[in-house]
Amino acid sequence: MRVAVIGTGHVGLVTAACLAHVGHDVIGMDDDAQRIATLQRGHMPIYEPVLEAIVEGSQAAGRLRFTTDFRAAVRDRQAALICMNTPAQPNGGADLSAVENTTRLIAGAGPPDLLVVEKSTAPANACAWIERTLAIYGGAREVEVASNPEFLREGSAVHDYLHPARVVVGVKSARAAERLRDLYGPILEGRFDCPVHNLCPWNGDVPFLVTNVQGAELIKHASNAFLASKISFINAVADVCERVGANVVQVAQGMGLDPRIGPSFLQPGLGFGGSCFTKDVCAFLRLAEELGVDFGLLREVDRINRRRIDVAADKLRKALWVLRGKRVGLLGLAFKPHTDDVRHAPSLSLAARLVEEGAEVVGYDPQACQAARAVMPTLAIADDPYGVAEGAEALVLVTEWPEFISLDWARVKQAMRRAIILDGRNALDREKLLAEGFEYIGMGR
Ligand code: UGA
Repeated sequence: MRVAVIGTGHVGLVTAACLAHVGHDVIGMDDDAQRIATLQRGHMPIYEPVLEAIVEGSQAAGRLRFTTDFRAAVRDRQAALICMNTPAQPNGGADLSAVENTTRLIAGAGPPDLLVVEKSTAPANACAWIERTLAIYGGAREVEVASNPEFLREGSAVHDYLHPARVVVGVKSARAAERLRDLYGPILEGRFDCPVHNLCPWNGDVPFLVTNVQGAELIKHASNAFLASKISFINAVADVCERVGANVVQVAQGMGLDPRIGPSFLQPGLGFGGSCFTKDVCAFLRLAEELGVDFGLLREVDRINRRRIDVAADKLRKALWVLRGKRVGLLGLAFKPHTDDVRHAPSLSLAARLVEEGAEVVGYDPQACQAARAVMPTLAIADDPYGVAEGAEALVLVTEWPEFISLDWARVKQAMRRAIILDGRNALDREKLLAEGFEYIGMGR
């Protein structure tokens, strides 16, 4: 199928690369000329495992091109997938200006039977607005707009795109459902060379759920809000565990063994970061308010999450007494492992809080040092984890990168002034650290 992917951010680039990898003819379009030039040279503007290899492979096979020329991108396409950034506005709602601009351009340039597919995370009713905008700026021509929410996670985005738990499409017509079924056919049936596994355990057979447009839009928002709620729930449980003397890891395990609850997203710690959960919880709350629905639960989810930084700062204060003048090292700056994304990263909120209290903060991340420096130029960055430990009175594990789990802890201890470690993700081997002579502080353990 001939596909245009409008927007080459995290979702757009992975979408373009994966659809090309499974055999479609894809053009990725972005008005960021520098980004497109980077991609045309075969370099990646973001760090995402496996992405570079499949972009390179599909470019070489002639199935994937990148352009800044909007007309050329959509002119002869059967589907245009909108993957635009929808950042949060100060009032919590999503800023849809990029989606609207794209829609206006499509209205003037798309072929008559183009199917417009909205993949950006946008509030319910966004597709209706896109359809109206297409009619206004496209000379009353009727273009169908479908919703096809994306559920990929940063850091395992290619894996998730090619091995989805479900593909959801929100449509008005059988024709649109059929076209989207064709688009995802190779993925639904596992008809592609897996770039992720040597021996792919995937057997295809992915549920393909067809709903109306509003239903698909809500599935995305409700899924993210629910996952975020699970995280805040277990974080509140972690605080209770500490006070009653229980271990939250065991409590989460005991809860997760119930198949109605499930074990995933019950990892307590510094809370959720990233552009998605933080933004989507607020946007969903805002949407509910606009519709007159009291969804105060989401306000609590957000509040509990923000408090994780207070909890971590309290723990450090308790261990160090005075923070002023003390050096605290942060292991990990990305909002999660295997990405270089620092948007809403707990590392930066914690760093800002500690600096406010007079501490000297130094951090390191295997991929996100540059991104962190761009957002917080005053943050000292070390060359490696041992540099973070140098002269530190406490270390905080902020992001559970595998390389931090298997550090040479004797070397770390030797470099530190005081061997205190706050395991902000409950990911370290507590017994081993205690045996090495560290003072170990967990989250709810
Ligand atoms: C999330 C969703 O998981 C995806 O399904 C969705 O497509 C994506 O948002 C999106 O809307 O684009 P992502 O934000 O990339 O994906 O990463 P997650 O793995 O969900 O982690 C989000 C945050 O929650 C991270 O900071 C992580 O450390 C934290 N987390 C996750 C916890 O604190 N505890 C957990 O048990 C799980």
